[in-house]
Amino acid sequence: MLPAQNNSDEMDNVTLVRVIGVVHKLTGITMAEHKKPLLQSRLKKRMRELQITSYGEYMDYLAKTAGETQNFINVVTTNETTFFRTPKVWSFFEKEFLPEWHKNNPRTMLTLWSAASSSGEEAYSLAILCSEFKLKTPGFDFKILATDISSAVLAEAEAGEYHDRAVEFFKRAKPELYDRYFSKKDESTHIISSEVKKKVQFLPHNLFSVKKEQFDIIFLRNVLIYFSSEDQENVLMNVSRSLKINGHLIIGESESLSRLNTPYHFISACIYDLRKEGK
Ligand SMILES: C[S@@+](CC[C@H](N)C(=O)[O-])C[C@H]1O[C@@H](n2cnc3c(N)ncnc32)[C@H](O)[C@@H]1O
Repeated sequence: MLPAQNNSDEMDNVTLVRVIGVVHKLTGITMAEHKKPLLQSRLKKRMRELQITSYGEYMDYLAKTAGETQNFINVVTTNETTFFRTPKVWSFFEKEFLPEWHKNNPRTMLTLWSAASSSGEEAYSLAILCSEFKLKTPGFDFKILATDISSAVLAEAEAGEYHDRAVEFFKRAKPELYDRYFSKKDESTHIISSEVKKKVQFLPHNLFSVKKEQFDIIFLRNVLIYFSSEDQENVLMNVSRSLKINGHLIIGESESLSRLNTPYHFISACIYDLRKEGK
């Protein structure tokens, strides 16, 4: 007897177009057809768990199983992140933004949003620098909202436990901060301090909908790159509705708003603010 055929190795073009369409519909992410090997390997892992052998069959299962939507989103999103990613942004935040903001807003709670937070490194980097600033600045306080469309990374963020690789660079660059805000769970697991953890709330959110709260600063980094120009403009408009006038928007190193129609005003690479119309 011939061995059972394994159809899962190659995705046909009709299914590829279908997968790309569903990824866009659910997340806004535009995937090029040359990403087929990436999509195949990510979906295959999930298909193995479900004992589904063809991509077409998996897409049928996804279409009729509401509970599968989140698993699909979790596997198709790219969640790469690190503590203190792009040092120049953190230097601006620590040395310019925080002192200036506090001078202009004494006795006010600073509100921050890490708007595609992945597994929490960005939000905890913010919490660490704000905690440091709070230590030397009586009257200063802050709260951070961190959101993502992937429930898998939000669960990791909430756990606040990181492997060696995740803290390696940060530990070497800022040993005193590592010592103050991390402890060891075991040989290779590092836990963020409970003091820092309680300053961050993690919630699911899709950037294609509007958040009601208002923030002083929003980190929207390394997510716009996955969207078409039109979708970037939509997301940037949604996010602007949650940014206070004179609030700051921080984007990723490989992202720029210069060719887009948006309400933001350029300050320096990665850094923008929102001004009253006409200012
Ligand atoms: C590469 S990570 C960036 C993490 C972090 N901001 C940084 O710069 O290191 C991109 C994150 O965007 C999230 N994402 C993708 N599409 C999204 C959407 N429509 N709404 C919210 N988050 C989304 C992904 O799940 C992923 O965790």
